[in-house]
Amino acid sequence: LELQMNLEEIEKGGYDHFMLKEIYEQPRAIKDTYRGRLLADQGLVKMSGIEQNMEKFINANRIIIVACGTSWHAGLVAEYIFEDLARIPVEVEYASEFRYRNPVITDKDVLIAISQSGETADTLAAIKLAKEKGAFVFGVCNVVGSSIARETDAGAYTHAGPEIGVASTKAFTTQITVLTLMALRLAKAKGEFSETKYREYLTELETIPSKVEKSLESNALIEIIADVYKDSTNCLYLGRGYNFPVALEGALKLKEISYIHAEGYPAAEMKHGPIALIDEHMPVFVIATKKGHYEKVVSNIQEIKSRKGKIIAIVTEGDEQVRDLADHVIEVPETLESLTPLLTTIPLQLLSYHIAVMRGCNVDQPRNLAKSVTVE
Ligand code: AGP
Repeated sequence: LELQMNLEEIEKGGYDHFMLKEIYEQPRAIKDTYRGRLLADQGLVKMSGIEQNMEKFINANRIIIVACGTSWHAGLVAEYIFEDLARIPVEVEYASEFRYRNPVITDKDVLIAISQSGETADTLAAIKLAKEKGAFVFGVCNVVGSSIARETDAGAYTHAGPEIGVASTKAFTTQITVLTLMALRLAKAKGEFSETKYREYLTELETIPSKVEKSLESNALIEIIADVYKDSTNCLYLGRGYNFPVALEGALKLKEISYIHAEGYPAAEMKHGPIALIDEHMPVFVIATKKGHYEKVVSNIQEIKSRKGKIIAIVTEGDEQVRDLADHVIEVPETLESLTPLLTTIPLQLLSYHIAVMRGCNVDQPRNLAKSVTVE
């Protein structure tokens, strides 16, 4: 037992928990994900799984993305990326719903299954169903040689390295990285971009690891904020556009490791119900980056403020306007709108982590949860 303990300590590499280690691994993990695929100086994206099946993607009626949990959130981000950059229609489905609702699938559809473990039962079943109906099935997995990796027609690994913490962190950001590369490659093939704009994307994507690094520097501030809100019983997370799925992911992270009830919403949906919850006891985490419906989000923040909600905003470096309104701001570096989820996710991961630690929760192995859900 003692030997096992020591081994675990070594594996944690000096961090208190696997989750924290994995959060901090993200700059390297993202680099590993795009290594050999992103050739910014040549203006190229190379992905063999895409090259070999280019016709299928280009001629697809639509892309259907299936996944569960955090991987489903990555799928939602991908919906924005694929539609925005590659102009291919996308639907994102919970694998568990998709498989049981007699979906209309044809051989002109491409199904992308996203799974860290590659073993999630519902996602695997959704793949089998889509294959039966003749769709081309592409996997985005982290675990090499996993069931989903084997069951799919083609795929791309995330290369995040082992993720031990039950709460998914680096798997999420590397999934988004792979999906962004895919969307960029397809956008190029479809001629959706000028060469200059394309190169701008590639160069910017290459800067993301150092910008994630920069985002991690807010850790001490985030710990202070965590201490203020650690005893909350409810929290709201709001974001728009690309950052709406990040709001969902932020809420999921908090729920699963700190056992605080949290909900993520598209910021504009607030006035259709959740706004009724806001009072001086409600912390509201708002993603308000400069690129991405900024003014709209600012007016959502004003609505929260006038109802005395506590505002914790994730903003772009140097932001003044939100700083004046919010109770706390956490800065992330500026980037292209479509790449903001890779940065805005980071403070929300750290926040959940610190709150969970302060509440004495088992961060790496939260109650009732398993790392891979192999039963339906
Ligand atoms: C994430 O923090 C969760 N533990 C969970 O939602 C997870 O993302 C989900 O079970 C899907 O797992 P997969 O990516 O291995 O398929």
